[in-house]
Amino acid sequence: MSKKLIVGNWKMNPVSFEKAKKILAPVAKKAGEFKQVDVVICPPNLYLLEMKKLAGRKVMLGGQDCHYESEGAFTGFTSPAGLRDLGAGYVILGHSERRRAGPPASDGCIRASETDEEINKKVKIALKLGLKVILCVGEESFDEGGSYLRVIQDQLVKALSGVPKKDLENLVVAHEPVWAIGANAKGSDTPENFAHNKLFIRKVLNDFMAKGLAKEAPVLYGGSVNAKNAESFLKEGGADGLLVGRESLIPENFLKIISIANA
Ligand code: PGA
Repeated sequence: MSKKLIVGNWKMNPVSFEKAKKILAPVAKKAGEFKQVDVVICPPNLYLLEMKKLAGRKVMLGGQDCHYESEGAFTGFTSPAGLRDLGAGYVILGHSERRRAGPPASDGCIRASETDEEINKKVKIALKLGLKVILCVGEESFDEGGSYLRVIQDQLVKALSGVPKKDLENLVVAHEPVWAIGANAKGSDTPENFAHNKLFIRKVLNDFMAKGLAKEAPVLYGGSVNAKNAESFLKEGGADGLLVGRESLIPENFLKIISIANA
């Protein structure tokens, strides 16, 4: 049985490195006990270098995004090569909070409005540089008829178009239904839905990957994961891991999720 992958996406939290250390330290201390789990934390890029020193061998680090060029005149962006140089082994790409287009969302925040084309270029360079990519896909709303699957398919096809087959061994897909993410989520997804979505995602991946690889491709669930629902998504849903937002900022809760995945 392959290890479960538990990823903490800290987003733009916490507000200081002192606070980041307090979240990381208990996780780094205990993570080594969980042999069946790979743990990745994606902090704000600002903290990566210092966190690398404290993360120990068990906790791996990832970026939350990167540019599609390694270097150049791109003010304010993050180089994928720079991420790797700071010790990140992973990068999250295509998160819904970066994809979201249009006017400011109801919380007043302006999102990054990333296009599928940009995500595709980012996926290509990150994989080429040897980073593992956690590619997020997810629909804005759910419908019983399953037309939301078209959204997932479209995002996957566009993100993976032209990516060399050999690089896709380092691809992880995270299904994050946008309607189930965050404190203002409209609803919660079910393990039954996830099981179905995972099969669908692997079916789409099959067109891109080398023969036989898609059925091994890790597919994570993300969207309001906590210690109460983690087990059902892993067991009944068959998730290969979890992408955890808010709960990854509370070390006790994140460790609980890791220990559930380990069991
Ligand atoms: P959440 O966030 O766990 O706080 O819902 C998940 C994510 O956006 O990756």
